[in-house]
Amino acid sequence: MPDRNDAVALLEQWVENEGLRKHMYAVEAAVRHYARLRGADEAVWGLAGLLHDLDWEKYPDRHPLTAVEHLRELGYADEILQAILAHRADFTGVQPESDLARVLVACDELSGLVFATCLVRPNGIDDLKPKSVTKKLKDRTFAAGVSREEVQHGIDLLGIDRAEHIQNVIDALSTVSAELGIRAQDISG
Ligand SMILES: [Fe+2]
Ligand SMILES: [Fe+2]
Repeated sequence: MPDRNDAVALLEQWVENEGLRKHMYAVEAAVRHYARLRGADEAVWGLAGLLHDLDWEKYPDRHPLTAVEHLRELGYADEILQAILAHRADFTGVQPESDLARVLVACDELSGLVFATCLVRPNGIDDLKPKSVTKKLKDRTFAAGVSREEVQHGIDLLGIDRAEHIQNVIDALSTVSAELGIRAQDISG
């Protein structure tokens, strides 16, 4: 199976938009974090997070079907493909049945909200608490593209406390905060 370097090369080949690239790296970090918490295979789970939006820019009308067909040809594990299909269950009809798929669904939109929250704070992610993210979650005019229903759906799928889930995503994004440009020094500097 291709490794992370292969996946990064693929991402950079398919995705030009810097914001989308950062989103994919953010979701990778979140899914990897959950793999660590749950004793799952971090490398395998990470690939699903990293590549889940691979075709969003090039083939938005078929997203994620084109990506999954391509990844299947390249030898990516079925567990990864099923999770990527399930992050758009409404379109693909594939439900999130594995732990990986549920975690991917739960991290996708919430990573976007945490990222957006960081950008409007002077200290970025550095002292970010779940309470601040929850406030933004309830303010539907903020980062309106983030589906609040999808965030709640993810929390329900994991059966996790909302604040705990948000804290996990904050912890995960903190591990790649420099790359994402969401540290205090990135935002005020
Ligand atoms: Fe997507
Ligand atoms: Fe996504």
